[in-house]
Amino acid sequence: MSDRIHSLSGYMYEYQKSVQDPESFWSRIADSFHWRKKWDKVVDWNFETPDVKWFVNGKLNITENILDRHLYTRGDQAAIIWEPNDPEEEHITLTYKELHAKVCQFANAIKAKGVGKGDRVIIYMPMVPEAAIAMLACARIGAIHSIVFAGFSANALSDRINDCKAKMVITADGNFRGNKQIPVKEVVDEALKNCDSVESTIVLKRTGQDIQMTSGLDIWWHDAIEGVSTENKAEEMDSEDMLFILYTSGSTGQPKGVVHTCGGYMIYTAYSFQNVFQYNQGDVYWCTADVGWITGHSYIVYGPLLAGATSIMFEGVPTFPDAGRFWAICDKHQVNQFYTAPTAIRALQAYGTEPIEPYKLDSLKVLGSVGEPINEEAWHWYHDHVGKGKCPIVDTWWQTETGGIMVSPLAGITPTKPAYATLPLPGIQLVILDNEGNELKGNSVEGNLCIKFPWPSMLRTTYGDHDRCKQTYFSTFPNHYFTGDGVKRDEDGYYRILGRVDDVINVSGHRMGTAEVENAINEHPKVIESAVVGYPHDIKGQGIYAFVICDMDGRTEEGLTKEIKETVNKIIGPIARPDKIQIVPGLPKTRSGKIMRRILRKIASGDGDNLGDISTLFNPEVVEAIKEGASH
Ligand code: WT7
Repeated sequence: MSDRIHSLSGYMYEYQKSVQDPESFWSRIADSFHWRKKWDKVVDWNFETPDVKWFVNGKLNITENILDRHLYTRGDQAAIIWEPNDPEEEHITLTYKELHAKVCQFANAIKAKGVGKGDRVIIYMPMVPEAAIAMLACARIGAIHSIVFAGFSANALSDRINDCKAKMVITADGNFRGNKQIPVKEVVDEALKNCDSVESTIVLKRTGQDIQMTSGLDIWWHDAIEGVSTENKAEEMDSEDMLFILYTSGSTGQPKGVVHTCGGYMIYTAYSFQNVFQYNQGDVYWCTADVGWITGHSYIVYGPLLAGATSIMFEGVPTFPDAGRFWAICDKHQVNQFYTAPTAIRALQAYGTEPIEPYKLDSLKVLGSVGEPINEEAWHWYHDHVGKGKCPIVDTWWQTETGGIMVSPLAGITPTKPAYATLPLPGIQLVILDNEGNELKGNSVEGNLCIKFPWPSMLRTTYGDHDRCKQTYFSTFPNHYFTGDGVKRDEDGYYRILGRVDDVINVSGHRMGTAEVENAINEHPKVIESAVVGYPHDIKGQGIYAFVICDMDGRTEEGLTKEIKETVNKIIGPIARPDKIQIVPGLPKTRSGKIMRRILRKIASGDGDNLGDISTLFNPEVVEAIKEGASH
């Protein structure tokens, strides 16, 4: 495709153009896609309400751009290569032609079950090709998919189903993860006890484990597609029709349904994919994320397939059957671009270089990182031992809400700098604001990362509650999108993300709201009050530390902490399980009753001797007791 940047001066030129005249810039990029009807206006926006529209009145179907458009040029090329959990099991290759047929067939199948344009469909699945097929089938008929990561609990799943009033759930019997077999359908059964909107579920047979099929509700995937045509005319969608909803945590207790729409998301994921990874035709690209997160949406499925790439999907975990699995897969499929998370790199780093040694890794050209700041040590290990010193690392900063990569080197084109996401992509107008909302201009400044101009793949609303979108992202700093991240622009103008400035923690690259974890902990009948903070964790980046006031009621501390962890497992899922729980006699509060998290964060980080003046607290005496009981 013609929108590739090839040099540093090319980047600077494109960036300037994108800021001076965004409309011509994006219009030129969008021109290379297939539109049923061209747009009337490139962008219409207002960050106050907020109201953002891209490619106004344009008509398209994103799957025509992913599938039909590629049929004649690369029909026999691999679109998806699926690598199973068990290395002994055969991998599966789906060419663009095959993927087209499977998507059309499944689209017809879900349509026959009564799902149509605008209906919401929940996808709760393991990392199998059918997860991508299900997403694209929804997009084909204009249904709005909402993927829920298969590690979430029944409770978290039913919350999401109910929030978007989903009509259908697409799932599987079970999930192979390492040497474990995880029940999936069972969780759906449990969730559906509390959901009225769901009319049918489709169940893929993956593990073959025993499950309950409810007649009139559940149907096997293979039965649903039996004899169904592999041709389907894509539904015509407006640019601003919803493509998907993806739930994400924030500083309040309830996850938000981030809404992305068809036209802008299509343009930006494809554009950013090609430029950041410098993908060349014929390359094999692998992103290790799960489709349950935004990274899986934008950079396993939509971005790469829009660009006509070959995208690997991996079912398993990095340490099964051993800590060399990632590298075995890179050699086996001759991976050229490899995109993973710092937490995975640190976990593998802990095994030393021995598991890497048997592998050549000579096909690798580009390494990527996403999800949290990558510390310098992990950056160098990744660079030296995985990339053998010859692959640029693209440290990509972005968010569920941004839809695509916002700040990152372009591989081999713009400079890299360890622990820096470096420079914004063309079209991305960053500003740094101080707490009063004044713009900090020039270099060597630090403050709140905001964006002052819309970009095509930005969120449009939070599902069912537009005011929440406004309050969360557009009210802290009027007329700006606020990311929630702190940032530094160094003396050379490069950006370094400093982490969240709100009550959100980042555990293994997954966003957790502290309030959400507290709500879950508080569900335990013996918990009186709790406060959750993040603390530095060697592998996860941040760990979850919970300070809890309990009515012990004859229980041991050990017994109670175990019960609390189980409660969190049940309410949210294992990803939110606290790493440390400390039972405390009280929580440090201001005179107005606000919990002083700053103090708890310091104690949790082992910096309890450095609390500063605490005499203004309502209950300063409690701090000593907490410090004494702290576990490190
Ligand atoms: C938050 C967004 C975007 C996909 C994965 C997470 C943090 C993300 C980086 C990076 C420093 C990063 C930010 C951001 N984050 N990438 N390269 N360097 N921090 O998506 O769950 O929406 O979380 O992840 O704090 O706000 P998410």
